[in-house]
Amino acid sequence: MKQLLKTLTEIFAPSGYEDAVREVILKEVKPLADEIRVDALGNLIARKKPTMESKSAKRIMLAAHMDEIGVIASHVDEKGFVRFTNVGGTFGRYTLGARVRFLNGVTGVVGYDRLEQIDNWLPINKMFIDVGATSRDDCPVKVGDIAAFERSFIEMDDRLVAKSLDDRAGVAVLIETLRGLKSTPNDVYFVFTTQEEVGSRGAGSAAFGIEPEIGIAVDVTPTGDTPVSIKMAMELGKGPCVKFRDVGMIADPRVVDWMIQTAEKAKIPCQREVLLVGSTDAREIQISRAGVMTGALSIPARYVHSASEMVDFNDMKNTVKLLTAMLKNPVL
Ligand code: ZN
Ligand code: CO
Repeated sequence: MKQLLKTLTEIFAPSGYEDAVREVILKEVKPLADEIRVDALGNLIARKKPTMESKSAKRIMLAAHMDEIGVIASHVDEKGFVRFTNVGGTFGRYTLGARVRFLNGVTGVVGYDRLEQIDNWLPINKMFIDVGATSRDDCPVKVGDIAAFERSFIEMDDRLVAKSLDDRAGVAVLIETLRGLKSTPNDVYFVFTTQEEVGSRGAGSAAFGIEPEIGIAVDVTPTGDTPVSIKMAMELGKGPCVKFRDVGMIADPRVVDWMIQTAEKAKIPCQREVLLVGSTDAREIQISRAGVMTGALSIPARYVHSASEMVDFNDMKNTVKLLTAMLKNPVL
């Protein structure tokens, strides 16, 4: 799974431009799934049918988003400096000094106009991307061109650091779960969603098409385990987090119980999650059509939305174990 994660995180696929990462995922899931389709918004849907005909088979949708945060060029000046705005939650503090790569392969560095104010709060609209051009005419970037952070994957023993672990870590977990799921009494849809970072736009339409009875999003969740972080219970290395609440949803208590009971029975470590900022695809699944019983399983992560996000590999492995244990038996 580590090699797969490295490959996935080193691909550039900001929201709305997921083609490159979808291609890699498609290659992985094609031999494992019974049915595959890509919908109009670009969601990749891989179905694993119930191994045996059964009346208790539940239609379950698992979602991990394949897009990542990025930036988009909004203006090019006469000297070839590119102004930009965010695509999803790209913050000023994390963006200054970053290298970005446009989808056409052009690399740039993010600079700032007023260096004497460098310790102040830095708004993105005072920054620019320098792609090495000297004029508008020789600038290889046009208004509307989109880019993502450029940063390579590194290992620090069990701690893995990369850009876009949000949510390629979840993507890798879904692929490995599908790979390991030899049989299931359920009808399981593994969905690799688009445009989560700009408001879970892919997950809602995917859920509408699939009409699941149960939904689960697999995404990263920020932790409370760094020196001066806000008080939150989630820590790296303590197992997958069972979400109770985030800003966008109250997880269905039946799904919460299913997760916690399965973890206890299988002796898989897990944590209880109340997230104070942000949300996931689970929200859009929960409120799609007439409503869906929905929860979320999270991989704890530090420095979310920076170019160096960090997860613990054991948490990823335990998330695969827990999902597999949940799916291989009849539900509830
Ligand atoms: Zn995410
Ligand atoms: Co995110």
